Amino acid sequence: MTARDISIDYALAMAEGVGKDGGLTDAELDALQERFAAGISALSARVGSGELGFSKLPHERAALAEVQRVRAALDADLNDVLVLGIGGSSLGARALIEALGRPQQLAAAGARGPRLHFPDNSDPWLLSHLLETLEPRRTAALVVSKSGGTVETAAQMHVVRAWLTRAVGADGLRTRWVAITDPSKGALRELAERERWLTLPIPTNVGGRFSALTAAGLLPAMLAGIDCEGLLDGAAGIETRSQRSEIRENPAGLLAALNYLHERKGRSIHVLMPYSDRLRAFAAWYVQLWAESLGKRFDRLGERVESGPTPLPAVGATDQHAQMQLFMEGPRDKLITFIAVQRQERDLPIPESSGPDAYLNGKTLAELLDAERRGTAEALASDGRPSITIHAPQLEPHTVGSLLMLYQIATALAGELYGVDAFDQPGVELGKRLAFGLLGRNGYDQEAATIAERERKRPTRYRL
Ligand code: PA5
Repeated sequence: MTARDISIDYALAMAEGVGKDGGLTDAELDALQERFAAGISALSARVGSGELGFSKLPHERAALAEVQRVRAALDADLNDVLVLGIGGSSLGARALIEALGRPQQLAAAGARGPRLHFPDNSDPWLLSHLLETLEPRRTAALVVSKSGGTVETAAQMHVVRAWLTRAVGADGLRTRWVAITDPSKGALRELAERERWLTLPIPTNVGGRFSALTAAGLLPAMLAGIDCEGLLDGAAGIETRSQRSEIRENPAGLLAALNYLHERKGRSIHVLMPYSDRLRAFAAWYVQLWAESLGKRFDRLGERVESGPTPLPAVGATDQHAQMQLFMEGPRDKLITFIAVQRQERDLPIPESSGPDAYLNGKTLAELLDAERRGTAEALASDGRPSITIHAPQLEPHTVGSLLMLYQIATALAGELYGVDAFDQPGVELGKRLAFGLLGRNGYDQEAATIAERERKRPTRYRL
């Protein structure tokens, strides 16, 4: 481990730290060791066979060269970039930009690279405001969809494409428009090839929520001036450490094991609470990763399990004034993971004052934030409420790359412990199909009839 590496302090997740009602024993960790090692082997076999590609991404730098080539082909004079994607095709890039880019609301157009916008919803509110405000000649769009068939993204793509084309023509689009999708299949890939757009691949063996370190995250990051080599270096380091088959030596494995064991003991709400505004979007990214990967009706043997922890995002110290009351005194169903940033890139000294705030004299805002985190962890522990703290030396590309890979591997390993497939999401299909029926899509007549019938039969007496 080097001084730039993240570390995990789990003393307050253990019985010794919080008492036996809220903590785990060493014996419980030991008892999981055999299954854990089997999980590591199973995962490494899936990686080895090429079925899963996410963990090897940071070791393969050819993709980065391709991203650089596309970046160079884009118009140099951009003020704004629209990232059109949803779920994993938006959240990873957003986490990177918020953690490592300039605060977007302060970014002056054009100064030090374009601003990035993530209108990741079919709600027309944000996108319509953006299209009203942005200068199309100085705007590019990245259409990001692994499957190439996501309706929300397709709809936005058509809206933005028409808006851009009106201003710059189909030719102008070629330096302002990139499709990031599967290398060989899907509607977006076909369209991009027909229209001769710039394209970048999301490897076939990398799913949406595991794609932050593919072009889906790297191109937005590069446009925001983030050091992508550093990101990949950090991710590669943690990937190497997370291959170890001993739980206590494997950072991602330890995180998976602690979360899993606590969940089995009834602490099924997993709060991720970074003490950093810059990691707000990271917490949102984690929520999708943990929820969509682990919330499953069936296990891999086809047994109905309806399992999965519920992830919850929080941010310190803000949520000390919002959710902490519940965490401290509500049901004992939570495991909280704090992320502590040891060295803040920016700090503000608190000016001297007399009176009630005089104890802050000589302190800084970063010191206050850290004291609040430590106080909160101890307060929870004093009532037998467990937590883990991930220490990040500072928020630089290396650290953020490590955090992303840490959680991706932890998710995959948690999937092994639960015995579920962490890489599919069958539960989101039915809602999509019914919506297609409502929209009159070909082949969805049955769904249209089903929803019409069910809505018709719904009792009206429960309306107020
Ligand atoms: O993780 C996933 O697979 C999903 O959250 C997808 O990222 C999301 O549904 C968007 O899919 P796509 O990238 O295919 O447009």
